[in-house]
Amino acid sequence: MHLTSPMPLVVPLAIVGLSAIQGAAAKCSDGLVNVVFNTGHGGYTEQRWKQIHSASNWLTFDFGLADKQIPMLHMTNKSIYHAIDIVNGENPPDFMLTFNEPDNEYGSNPREVILQPEEAANLIQPLLKKRGNHTKFIAPVPAFEKLNWLPEFYGNCSCQDAFSAYNVHIYNKTVEQAKDRINDFHKKWNDKPLWITEIAPGQYTGACPSPIPWDHTTKFMQDIYAWGEKNEWIHKIFWNSANEINCTDTNVAASFLIDFKNESTPLLDPFNKLTCS
Ligand SMILES: *[C@@H]1O[C@H](CO)[C@@H](O)[C@H](O)[C@H]1NC(C)=O
Ligand SMILES: *[C@@H]1O[C@H](CO)[C@@H](O)[C@H](O)[C@H]1NC(C)=O
Ligand SMILES: *[C@@H]1O[C@H](CO)[C@@H](O)[C@H](O)[C@H]1NC(C)=O
Ligand SMILES: *[C@@H]1O[C@H](CO)[C@@H](O)[C@H](O)[C@H]1NC(C)=O
Ligand SMILES: *[C@@H]1O[C@H](CO)[C@@H](O)[C@H](O)[C@H]1NC(C)=O
Ligand SMILES: *[C@@H]1O[C@H](CO)[C@@H](O)[C@H](O)[C@H]1NC(C)=O
Repeated sequence: MHLTSPMPLVVPLAIVGLSAIQGAAAKCSDGLVNVVFNTGHGGYTEQRWKQIHSASNWLTFDFGLADKQIPMLHMTNKSIYHAIDIVNGENPPDFMLTFNEPDNEYGSNPREVILQPEEAANLIQPLLKKRGNHTKFIAPVPAFEKLNWLPEFYGNCSCQDAFSAYNVHIYNKTVEQAKDRINDFHKKWNDKPLWITEIAPGQYTGACPSPIPWDHTTKFMQDIYAWGEKNEWIHKIFWNSANEINCTDTNVAASFLIDFKNESTPLLDPFNKLTCS
């Protein structure tokens, strides 16, 4: 259903009929299930990626072109000019993520903006002018999507049409709150599909969770993918995190699939067996 061409109605009905007869397990749509590798503690490694069978793609916070990686622009001129070469080169990637949380320097408190909307609009302009004819660009993703960063960015760059999907990060504690927040975002930004490039049940305890509530996280994960499957405007969901990082980042302290020792957590098996139903 996601990212595939429309089929005549009789075909899906026939498939439904067949799977009911055979009792086949439901399956997530192609491309829906993805992961984030956080930097630190080894980050992405091929060995870790191989343990995650269910994911189509992965991202981390840099512009890599490894197998199944979706590259992410850095907020520098150097990265912009590198991206221009890549998207106009011989093997342009299918997708490129643009600015990651330009409204929030990671770890800053009070919040510091990395790039003002006007600066970001100027920075990306050369790339959008020479964007090749293959790569699809994903919109910048603010940390605080209700603030004015996005509207001011589009106000300055007049480039909304250059992006093929919007992007949001979600760390609500319960899956119902997460759905409400995603729905609110989609009501405001509804003319394109959505990628959720970071999601996990945030802990909000102010401390590392102990014990880690794996059952709550498992249910949250299964629910959000089943819900994503039902909403055709949601094209990709990146579970955060593939790998364990310091639990002082309480957004991802209860959601890692693989621990510091490269061993699976209680979440990896349910993740690999997601049916999105
Ligand atoms: C990018 O380069 C332009 C022109 O040299 C400069 O004005 C701008 O500040 C640079 N942007 C960043 C984010 O470094
Ligand atoms: C895409 O651009 C390349 C290089 O400019 C060109 O050779 C190719 O024909 C273009 N493809 C399409 C489908 O426009
Ligand atoms: C452009 O961005 C600046 C902040 O960088 C903002 O003050 C201004 O309102 C924006 N312009 C438009 C037309 O949205
Ligand atoms: C979801 O989390 C955000 C950020 O912490 C918060 O502002 C928002 O109120 C939460 N949404 C719901 C529905 O609880
Ligand atoms: C996490 O970071 C804190 C603060 O830097 C440090 O005291 C703690 O030992 C770290 N914990 C782990 C598990 O790395
Ligand atoms: C985890 O795997 C990576 C290679 O993928 C390796 O470099 C690292 O040493 C391993 N860590 C442990 C604790 O075994």
